[in-house]
Amino acid sequence: MQPYLNTFSLAGRVALITGAGRGLGLEVAKAMAGSGAHVILNGRNADHLHDVADSIRATGQQASIAPFDVTDSKALNKAFATIRETHGCLDILVNNVGARNRKPLLEFSDEEIRDLIETNLVAGFSLAREAARLMLPQRAGRLITVTSIAGHVARTGDAVYSSTKHGLTGMVRALAAEYGSYGITSNAIAPGGFATEANAAMLSDPKVAEHFATRSALGRWGQPEEIAGAAVFLASAASSYITGHVLTVDGGLTIKM
Ligand SMILES: NC(=O)c1ccc[n+]([C@@H]2O[C@H](COP(=O)([O-])OP(=O)(O)OC[C@H]3O[C@@H](n4cnc5c(N)ncnc54)[C@H](OP(=O)(O)O)[C@@H]3O)[C@@H](O)[C@H]2O)c1
Repeated sequence: MQPYLNTFSLAGRVALITGAGRGLGLEVAKAMAGSGAHVILNGRNADHLHDVADSIRATGQQASIAPFDVTDSKALNKAFATIRETHGCLDILVNNVGARNRKPLLEFSDEEIRDLIETNLVAGFSLAREAARLMLPQRAGRLITVTSIAGHVARTGDAVYSSTKHGLTGMVRALAAEYGSYGITSNAIAPGGFATEANAAMLSDPKVAEHFATRSALGRWGQPEEIAGAAVFLASAASSYITGHVLTVDGGLTIKM
């Protein structure tokens, strides 16, 4: 009998992770590589991605890079064509890139609203569509979208970001319905407050940092690597009957009264 632990293995799988150069995406990429996958790292800075891929390969794991801006349709399509030529398949997509622009709605220009929607929502559809194109013939695949607890709950000064994450939650569920009969699952990971570079300003203000920490049941910020288990699980055979689900990873922030 195979050890049950093998069910969590990603050996032989090819995974594209967007925004994998730092923060949560980097931790997901390292964990998936450590679980046996060949990880394809996306971001806009090719030199930096080269360094990250080198550091993963230095540990005997498999990594390559796909530098492109997720809002650039031409570059995105070219990257998927390269994945098709190089690997012949794609097993896992982690759509992790997410831009933030937090301020009262009255201060937003139409262009700023459109920019956030382009990066967070439109690119999510384009990535899922191109991934599905590769997954449908193999009748298997894992679409994983990083949303946010802002896709469920609201706070002031966050209307546009929050709306894009609500939209992605809808996309995740709709694609679960659309692709379920093809063996492709579509799930979301909704992070709470993580101590990433993107939150540096909040973390450096002791009052704000403390407020966020104590809002959660665990009473602290998440460490970036604490996102990774959820991603490996949703990418692995261990989650084979889970689709259309939003896995909240927030230290109990959204369940606390
Ligand atoms: N951190 C949190 O507490 C938290 C909470 C809730 C939800 N989330 C969600 O989790 C995801 C990751 O968050 P994070 O804090 O790890 O983000 P981050 O630190 O801002 O990292 C984003 C990564 O994406 C890349 N990137 C940004 N725009 C891109 C674009 N247009 N095309 C390609 N790559 C792009 C960046 O690299 P380059 O600049 O080099 O391209 C960077 O490596 C986001 O979707 C975010 O909304 C995070």
